[in-house]
Amino acid sequence: MNILLTGGAGYIGSHTFLSLIDAGHKPIVVDTFDNSSPQVLDRLHTLTGEKPVFHQADVRDSDRIADILTREKCDAVVHFAGRKAVGEGQSKPLLYFDQNVGGTVQLLHAMNRTGCKKLIFSSSAVVYGNPEYLPIDEEHPLSTCNVYGDTKRTVEDMLRALSASDQEWSVVLLRYFNPVGAHKSGEIGEFPRGIPNNLMPYVTQVAVGQLEKLSVFGNDFDTRDGTGVRDYIHVCDLADGHVSALKLLDEAGCTAMNLGTGKGYSVLDIITTFETVNDVRIPYQITARRPGDVAACYANPSRARSLTGWQAKLGLAEMCRDAWHWQRKNPKGFAET
Ligand code: NAD
Ligand code: WQD
Repeated sequence: MNILLTGGAGYIGSHTFLSLIDAGHKPIVVDTFDNSSPQVLDRLHTLTGEKPVFHQADVRDSDRIADILTREKCDAVVHFAGRKAVGEGQSKPLLYFDQNVGGTVQLLHAMNRTGCKKLIFSSSAVVYGNPEYLPIDEEHPLSTCNVYGDTKRTVEDMLRALSASDQEWSVVLLRYFNPVGAHKSGEIGEFPRGIPNNLMPYVTQVAVGQLEKLSVFGNDFDTRDGTGVRDYIHVCDLADGHVSALKLLDEAGCTAMNLGTGKGYSVLDIITTFETVNDVRIPYQITARRPGDVAACYANPSRARSLTGWQAKLGLAEMCRDAWHWQRKNPKGFAET
C-alpha cells in the first residue's frame, strides 16, 4: 500500500517508516520538522538504501495535503503529526487544540475530498485518565485530565462520529502506552528538545553525563516499591503494531486498540535494569510527586493480538540497551552529529 505518514520524521513515525518498508509498503512522509530534524530522512536513506519520498507540508494545509494524497496515490494515512507534551499543553492550550484537533480536521477534509478514507490515528493511554482498574482494556471508560489528553479524546470522538456517518471510512485508534528505545542501528531514536519530560530520555541523558541526576517523582504510590508503574513498549514493536493494524482497514468502522506489552515496570525497575544491562550508573534522588501522575498504568493488549496477531516481542532489557546505544551514538541528537 502507499501510505502517507503525517509526522513521519518524528520519533514513532520514523520507526514506523522502516517497519512499513520491511513489510513491502511504500511510505510517503509529510512533516514540518516542528519537532524533528531533516537529518532523519538522511538516516532513513542510509538504512533503506532509498531516498524517502518526502513533502515538507503542514497537516493544517488541507489543499496541500489533498494534492499530495492524489499525486502519491495514497491508499491510507497514518497520522502521527501533533504535539505531545502534557506540561506544554497546559500552558499553550490553543496551540494544542490547533495542532492536534485543528490539524486532524484539516487532514480529514483532505482525505474526504480525495476519497482516501482509511486512517490509523496515534492515540494514547492518556485517554483513560486515572485508571479505574488494571490492566486497562479498550472498554475502560475514557476520562482525561489535561489538555493534551483532551485533544486526543476529542479526535477519537470525531473519528468515531465520522466513521458512523459514512460507511466508506475505516479508522483504527491506536492507544500507545509508553514508547521507549530506538532502532537497533542507533541511527534513529528519540531526541527531545530541552530538558526531557519523559523518564527514558532523562535516564539516557543522565547516563551520558548531560544531566547530573534523575529525580524520581515520588516513592509513596500504592505500587510494589512506591514508584510509578508504566507499560513501556519498545518503539520497534510499536512500529510493527501499525503494520499489523493495516489489515483492519479492509473493513469499515472505527476500532480502538491498545499497543502495550501488558507488563508494568516501576521507575526503580527502569533504573536497575538500565544500570545492569548497560553497565552504567544512574544517580538519582527521590523528590515530590509530579502533579497529575497516576500510580500505575498498564495495558491489556489482548485485543491487538486477537484482531491482528500482533504482540510485543522485546523486553525491558532490549528497550534499555537500544535507548542507550542511540544516546551514546548521538550524544547531541541529530543536530550536531
Ligand atoms: P514527535 O514529536 O517525535 O513526532 C511528531 C512529528 O510531527 C514531528 O516530526 C513534528 O515535526 C511533526 N509535526 C508536528 N506538527 C505538524 C504539523 N502540523 N504538520 C506536519 N507535521 C507536524 O512525536 P512522537 O513521539 O513520534 O509521537 C507521534 C504521535 O504519537 C503523536 O501524535 C503523539 O501524541 C502520539 N503519542 C506519542 C507517545 C510518546 O510517548 N511518544 C505516546 C502516546 C501517543
Ligand atoms: C513515567 C514514570 C513518572 C520523569 C507521558 C504522558 C503520556 C504519554 C507518555 C503521550 C512516571 C516517572 C518521569 C522523571 C520520574 N505521552 N518519572 N522522573 O507520565 O506515563 O506518560 O508520556 O501520549 O500522555 O503523560 O511517562 O515517561 O513522563 O513518566 O520519576 O524525570 O516515570 O513519575 O511514574 P507518563 P513519563
